[in-house]
Amino acid sequence: MSDQIKNASSNVVWHHATVTRERRQQLNEHRGALLWFTGLSGAGKSTLAHAVEEALHQQGCRTFVLDGDNVRHGLCSDLGFSETDRKENIRRIGEMSKLFVEAGTIVLTAFISPFREDRSRVRGLCQHGDFIEIFCDSSIEVCEQRDVKGLYQKARQGLIKDFTGISSPYQVPDNPELIAPTGSETLEACVAQVIAFLGQRGIAKF
Ligand code: ADX
Repeated sequence: MSDQIKNASSNVVWHHATVTRERRQQLNEHRGALLWFTGLSGAGKSTLAHAVEEALHQQGCRTFVLDGDNVRHGLCSDLGFSETDRKENIRRIGEMSKLFVEAGTIVLTAFISPFREDRSRVRGLCQHGDFIEIFCDSSIEVCEQRDVKGLYQKARQGLIKDFTGISSPYQVPDNPELIAPTGSETLEACVAQVIAFLGQRGIAKF
């Protein structure tokens, strides 16, 4: 797929903007960054991403959440859950997130993104320090017990194939910037942990 895309983009010349990322960041009074939340379905990625966004917004930051379930209704509505489709899903989100960061935004993504290689490729697209991988650590048992969308039950009944954690793998991050204990701690504690990290990293002043 990426080779085809490379070929399709030949004879295209990059146009440089005069309004640069640095100038946008000066205007915003914070850096752009990509907060990449990864974890099992039901681990609390979207909940945490939106709660962190709320806290950042209240501090005057420019933010945007890209959420797996929502993006799959539009940009990625042609993709399913095979390994190839998930790879393409994450590739598109990675490229889109890069544009948001370039726009000076703090972008928060909530995708299972089960494969290390795919996450690592997105990290590679970003400038050093821009990509912050946040593992939403919740066991399969906790996710399955919560089963907010009823999908685990369907997957156990064999009604959904390639379901992450049941019939498709999830590769735990080797070296994430943060491990948010979404399966055991409160939402408030996880939000505070992320916000503190962003302050330490100098993404924004709180
Ligand atoms: S990813 O693997 O490509 O990163 P993504 O985060 O976009 O997945 O979508 C995951 C969401 O799609 C889940 O939260 C769940 O609601 C839904 N879903 C539907 N089918 C599956 C499946 N087979 N495996 C995992 N999630 C699924």
